[in-house]
Amino acid sequence: MTYRPTENGSFQILLLSDVHYACAAERLRGDYEARTINHPLLRVLLGAYRRHVWCKDPLSQNRYLTDFLAVATQADLCLGLGDYTCDSAFIGVADDAAMQSASICLNRLRNHFGDRFRGLIGDHDLGKQSLSGRVGGMRLESWQRCCGPLQLESVLHQPVGKVHLVGMNSSLLTLPACWMDFEADQRAAWLTLRDQHLQALKGILDGIPGDHRILFFMHDPTGLAMLLEHDWVRRCLPRLDGTWVGHLHSPWVFKASRWLSGMPRIRCMGNAVTKLSAALHQRHLWEPFKVRLVPAPGGIEIAPQGGYGDLRIDPEGKLPPNFCIRPLAGE
Ligand SMILES: [Fe+2]
Ligand SMILES: [Fe+2]
Repeated sequence: MTYRPTENGSFQILLLSDVHYACAAERLRGDYEARTINHPLLRVLLGAYRRHVWCKDPLSQNRYLTDFLAVATQADLCLGLGDYTCDSAFIGVADDAAMQSASICLNRLRNHFGDRFRGLIGDHDLGKQSLSGRVGGMRLESWQRCCGPLQLESVLHQPVGKVHLVGMNSSLLTLPACWMDFEADQRAAWLTLRDQHLQALKGILDGIPGDHRILFFMHDPTGLAMLLEHDWVRRCLPRLDGTWVGHLHSPWVFKASRWLSGMPRIRCMGNAVTKLSAALHQRHLWEPFKVRLVPAPGGIEIAPQGGYGDLRIDPEGKLPPNFCIRPLAGE
């Protein structure tokens, strides 16, 4: 598919992230996360966190997709930044109910935008351990379903005039920090996928002409610290005009990550805290990537300012990208 920018006009990209659609089978699971925690006090604490900070009813967010489709203009491109399912079995779309949620969500987006919709992969699409660390994790079967029937893209390269959109898979980039997230007999296969991913990215970035501009897209900004290790990435940074990410669900969380930047790694409070503290420990390494957050459509409980991203780019690469977040009512 070739995108041709409109005459004298900017190229418009709508960015949508963390829809977390729930089909009927996922909705029937009710309080799925609390059931993974044995300790009553931890269950109460998690419940309070979900109710007052994050999302009190994660299985009831479908209305935001409806709302987005009602107001979304026929942009030149709509790019999904991942997390299309609630992942209520914690193994991503390897779970049939989660697969059904992601399929419904992606079909609705493709029905609206046609081949102008393209989707990257989020951590919940591949599977993510529960907060208790006792259940789930990444599954190769989820990977196969994402890249097969769901037609999501692990790596994406779309030139628009002299501006290059480069999408990547943050779950593969962060693999070194996620050893506890997948089964031992799948480690070699995941590492091979990561090597192939890095080779593909290197090929894309090395092939972009020196006078062209670059924009990055990925689900989880944690992957940026790992990306910075490669000289072929560092070489691109002077031509990089921004990196658009999802995963954090709210500008409030994005700001909080700045305040907590450099915090020590915590290894004694379970997998989730280990990963989060490791990401914040390296938070300063995100800076050269000029990160911009696309929130979840409904935001979070404590900061419900969600929405979707509206990004306008100049195909000549002379003007900086123009980005804003457009709110959704979610009624
Ligand atoms: Fe998410
Ligand atoms: Fe996520």
